[in-house]
Amino acid sequence: MDKLVVHGGASLDGPLTVGGSKNTALPLMAAAVLADGTSRITKVPDLRDVRTFSNVIRVAGPAVTFDDDAHTLTIDASTVDHPVAPYELVKKMRASFYMLGALMGRCGEAKVSLPGGCAWGPRPVDLHIKGMEAFGADIELEEGYVIASAPGGRLDGGSFRLEPSSVGATINLLLGAVRAEGASRIENAAQEPDVVAFGEALQSMGAQIDGLGTDTIEIQGVDRLDPISVRNTPDRIELGTFMLMAATAGTPGTPVEIREGAHEHLGQNFKDKFAETGVDVNYEPETVTVTRPETLRPVSIETAPYPGFPTDLQAQWTVLLGLADGTATATDTIYDDRFKHVPELQRLGMDISVDGNTATVHGGAPIKGAQVMSTDLRASVSLVMAGMVADGTTHVLRVYHLDRGYEHLEGKLQAAGIDIERQEYEEFEGDPAGTPA
Ligand code: UD1
Repeated sequence: MDKLVVHGGASLDGPLTVGGSKNTALPLMAAAVLADGTSRITKVPDLRDVRTFSNVIRVAGPAVTFDDDAHTLTIDASTVDHPVAPYELVKKMRASFYMLGALMGRCGEAKVSLPGGCAWGPRPVDLHIKGMEAFGADIELEEGYVIASAPGGRLDGGSFRLEPSSVGATINLLLGAVRAEGASRIENAAQEPDVVAFGEALQSMGAQIDGLGTDTIEIQGVDRLDPISVRNTPDRIELGTFMLMAATAGTPGTPVEIREGAHEHLGQNFKDKFAETGVDVNYEPETVTVTRPETLRPVSIETAPYPGFPTDLQAQWTVLLGLADGTATATDTIYDDRFKHVPELQRLGMDISVDGNTATVHGGAPIKGAQVMSTDLRASVSLVMAGMVADGTTHVLRVYHLDRGYEHLEGKLQAAGIDIERQEYEEFEGDPAGTPA
């Protein structure tokens, strides 16, 4: 297994370059399954999740090739003759469940495994299933699989309200509705930039969609869709993560440049809260420059759907609070129990307590290097962040979580001045925390 070894105290000088968005690339890949022909997606990040989803798509019949140097993915979906997404693959990544909508849209039938559990709490798919039923699907649950079919081979379309709003369910329902017989309506739809970029790509394939970026999306089904040729958007969570790294590990007073990001996708709440910490931040069309202040102010945040504070930046924000001058809280209203990073950050010396869905951080406690364990994607990057400012060496174990969503992170950080390396280690049976080799 791999770990990241971070020798704390080096200054993050930059520049850092943001790659393509994971959470937009995955639905774009699902969209390609809808078209009878070859689609091409550029600016696709070289990530474990992209490779996993490529395999999920291959099972259904399409040929998928990834040119990782060119960050270009080609999907030939001329043949989709096995509308199945097996447990062995779906359990690795929840977004594989997008195959439900993609296969219903393309074939009018699907057998998709229910996603495996995520380390940070129950993540149901009830809205995906109920929504698909509202659009005309017959659904049965059998041996851990969702077996869906559209009578007559095509969904009718229909109306469904998401409660709560869900990124994944909005994407799945769009995938199903764009090739339905009739019209559909998604209420309380997700407004995340990832959903908008995906919806615009569907439009470029010939889909009839109104209301993208609002809470009500209306779709008029069409008979066929053209293959897609699209450039993926920059990863807004990677941009936000780099901004927080610059605010914590930069040299006070010296700007750190972050390139090729789309800051308009961050949402206003994150930008407002970030500015309140005392950082100097300058937004240009593709470049964000962040200057760390001498003292960071403690600023409380509460996650919310876009344009609220992203839950995917909550763990990283918690690290910033550990360095701030005072006490503040981080509340997660989207995932109540997304605090698996806290015990690990405590191991590094941070003074944090969790009550319900709120972490209270008393800033200023000395952070010291230790061995810590990744538990999920965003938690793992928060541990790297803490390691960068710790006194001594931090070993972040089980970085396969991080590799799901951060492209060549250690290479990017090394080039920007951070002392970090990847090492192999063996995890022994009966030793869940692992022992460094
Ligand atoms: C997506 C993102 C993830 C991000 C999350 C919230 C991808 C691949 N992943 O995940 O990085 O953290 O949005 O911004 O894009 N819910 C239900 N029933 C359902 C579906 C969801 O109750 O059927 C609830 C969830 O438990 C959660 C809320 O809805 O409380 C939002 O989840 P959702 O937007 O669906 O998250 P994902 O699409 O899985």
